[in-house]
Amino acid sequence: ATTLRGYADARGVRIGAAVADGPLRTESAYTTVLDREFNSVTAENAMKWDALEPSRNSYNWAAADRLVSHAASHNQGVRGHTLVWYAQLPSWLKNGNFSASELNTILKKHIDTTVGRYKGRIYAWDVVNEAFNEDGSMRSSLWQDKLGTGHIANALRWAHAADPSAKLYINDYNIEADNAKSDGLYNLARQLLAQGVPLHGIGFQSHFMVGGVPSSMKANLKRFSDLGLEVSVTELDVRIPLPASSAELAQQSTDYKTASENCLGVPRCAGVTVWGLTDKYSWVPGTFNGYGAALPYNESYGAKPAYTGLSNGV
Ligand code: XIL
Repeated sequence: ATTLRGYADARGVRIGAAVADGPLRTESAYTTVLDREFNSVTAENAMKWDALEPSRNSYNWAAADRLVSHAASHNQGVRGHTLVWYAQLPSWLKNGNFSASELNTILKKHIDTTVGRYKGRIYAWDVVNEAFNEDGSMRSSLWQDKLGTGHIANALRWAHAADPSAKLYINDYNIEADNAKSDGLYNLARQLLAQGVPLHGIGFQSHFMVGGVPSSMKANLKRFSDLGLEVSVTELDVRIPLPASSAELAQQSTDYKTASENCLGVPRCAGVTVWGLTDKYSWVPGTFNGYGAALPYNESYGAKPAYTGLSNGV
């Protein structure tokens, strides 16, 4: 039978999964599915700042290196995730009371070091993650509050200098629909492009509720692609109130198909990444109280209807 990566390879696009380091190291059923079905991987946590630099100037590359070398030996591309974010910062940084000029230096060093280490081995970086409020204004964060919106252009320029071949993305959630938040991002993207800033793509996280794929998603992705930008679905999952009924699992299958078609049907869609493989390790139950069953494989690595939906979409 043809696999997800078989379909994606035939179309020249990426089908990716977020990978957790624990099962990557220890669970052969996990890596079997990962390597059979996916031609791209994203580190679920291993490339976040708190994981890479838990104390100042003391780095832990082990898990990130493990994923990058796993990918190389299984012919998978790597999406880098993520460089500039308000969350999962190490406490030395969060509580350091740094001045604006110190923060600027710290951020540049983080980007130079991290992007530089994997130069040539990461095809796309989520340079900036979750920088917007729901009303389209810039979200308060360590970076925004101390450095202003200019930190975004700077981060993109530093990342481009460190790896000129990587596609540089701004990534966010609740921007899949045409709404105030995606309008805010659209306006920033246009300004950055007009200023010649190296922005190459927009990542639409796509953490959906069952039945909740927005009807304007395809047209919204198209307006970004009309700017000349790549678009990607970067963190797709479809959560269901537990216990999931068979009707909900069928709707979830439709949602996987629709969401992936909404990207792959647009010019310059680079691919679709699912935020995990199996319900066994999904972030959903720990984050959205009462929800789960969000991924294409169940806890025992059986393909759910969602797998068929996704394979029909890619
Ligand atoms: C999540 C991971 O899945 C969890 O394991 C972790 O505890 C918190 O972060 N948007 C993002 C991802 O950009 O980095 C988040 O990943 C999910 C939401």
